[in-house]
Amino acid sequence: MEKEKKKIVLFASGNGTNAENLIRYFKNKNTAEVAAVFTNNPQAGVVGRAKNLSVPCLMISKADFGTPATLLLKLDALRPDLIVLAGFLWKIPAEFIRHFPKKIINIHPALLPAFGGKGMYGRHVHEAVLAAGEKKSGITIHFVNEFYDQGQIIFQAETEIDKGETPETLAEKIHRLEYRYFPEVVAQLLKSRSQETGHNKF
Ligand code: GAR
Repeated sequence: MEKEKKKIVLFASGNGTNAENLIRYFKNKNTAEVAAVFTNNPQAGVVGRAKNLSVPCLMISKADFGTPATLLLKLDALRPDLIVLAGFLWKIPAEFIRHFPKKIINIHPALLPAFGGKGMYGRHVHEAVLAAGEKKSGITIHFVNEFYDQGQIIFQAETEIDKGETPETLAEKIHRLEYRYFPEVVAQLLKSRSQETGHNKF
């Protein structure tokens, strides 16, 4: 009997290089696939990236988040095993978190619990890390709860901060870590879930 592929749904607001990396990684796997990308920004780079890789990209508005019932129905129809925030900037409504317990994860471009919280995204994070004179930064992959960047940590990886580091060079290093580890962590999480539940086993 053929194993059913696990379904991943991505949420992204920006350029979408992590989203693209995740889509490409799982295209070569028979264990899981990216079923759809949701974005709040029709101008975002992620829209074209998803299209080029033939993954449906759906728009969400503030109203969808304000009264999430319709959006939840759309998501339920996709039967996601994991919802992955890959550079998604809106706060996830509590109703979502209750609806998908332990099924929503986020990547943050710093070593949480430091340098997290509202307004801490992308370049702002790297600027804050450098301004604080940190010797290292890194990535954190964590479950999403109702507080910004405070859910249980799943994985972290570090990089050193060199003399003369700028927000741009640090962003590059962080992206390299993200490309290397994010897909593997997602794959590992899905695998450990199926082992726990006995799904997808012969
Ligand atoms: C990534 O570095 C991700 O960690 C960060 O946004 C970037 C998105 O890049 N996320 C946050 O700052 C969330 N607080 P991408 O659009 O090229 O994947």
